[in-house]
Amino acid sequence: MPSALQPAGPLRHFLQFKDFTRDEILYVLERARVIKDKFKRYEPHRPMDDRTLAMVFEKASTRTRVSFEAGMYQMGGSVIHLNTTDSQLGRAEPIEDTARVVSRMVDLVMIRTFEQTRIERFASHSRVPVINGLTNEFHPCQILADIFTFIEHRNDITGKIVTWVGDANNMAYTWLQAAELIGFTLHVSAPVGYRLDPARIGNLSPGVLREFDNPHEACAGAHLVTTDVWTSMGYEAENEERAKAFAEWCVDSDMMSRAAPDAVFMHCLPAHRGEEVTGEVIDGPQSVVWDEAENRLHAQKALMEFLLLGRLA
Ligand code: CP
Ligand code: NVA
Repeated sequence: MPSALQPAGPLRHFLQFKDFTRDEILYVLERARVIKDKFKRYEPHRPMDDRTLAMVFEKASTRTRVSFEAGMYQMGGSVIHLNTTDSQLGRAEPIEDTARVVSRMVDLVMIRTFEQTRIERFASHSRVPVINGLTNEFHPCQILADIFTFIEHRNDITGKIVTWVGDANNMAYTWLQAAELIGFTLHVSAPVGYRLDPARIGNLSPGVLREFDNPHEACAGAHLVTTDVWTSMGYEAENEERAKAFAEWCVDSDMMSRAAPDAVFMHCLPAHRGEEVTGEVIDGPQSVVWDEAENRLHAQKALMEFLLLGRLA
């Protein structure tokens, strides 16, 4: 099939977790399992012959870049990497014009940027699927990989308790969308000033969210404890005041001991040992952070396959 064609079905984007139905997320997770199994057996899986992914990075990245780039090459496709400094995006070319042009030449676009509205503007002028590789508001690819990792280790996440310790950031809001869509409970504990914004939460099903002042109490009975940096990309000017506000929001062995005995610990990485998590926890037996990082590769291969080729099974 020639490249740079629109996908066979209706144009779909993955800009936030709830862009997919529960059934679609579960399908992608099952495909991720199949694709990972093939990868581990060195069995080729190349449905992207002649397809091109453009990646636009307006913020730094290690995992997102390597996983999308390696994943696309492994599936037989090609990748183009753009950033703000070496493209016209850094010289004020409108994002809408960039979308119109880039999406005539490639089959799929992944963007890491600042405001969610920026990726939405790109998507609304794109002829091809657009994937959110992190915005200030959401990080849906990471949560896809995290849920895949939980399922690998503990079978099913439905009905479980996931505890978020720390900043109500892009990761926390994406966990919340996932909890509502998939059906599990999210415990959130953040310092005053860094909590979830009720205006953004909207209407949730009963039992989806419980908020706690005390992060230790938030971990009680959790099947998964997870956290993230105190200062996300783009907020570096607040570093000092955040370090003070978050001092008690460090996942430690006391928090893990209050969780379920078989609880796992996750962190999207990069991590700062001694800030949001102790070395003892992130490097300890309950931590699955390296599987979690690897699973970005497998989950995103399944996501790209679904967006371009639809359901294969
Ligand atoms: N977790 C994650 O998205 O990592 P990078 O910032 O390295 O891409
Ligand atoms: N919340 C972090 C995640 C980094 C992968 C950030 O936005 O910087």
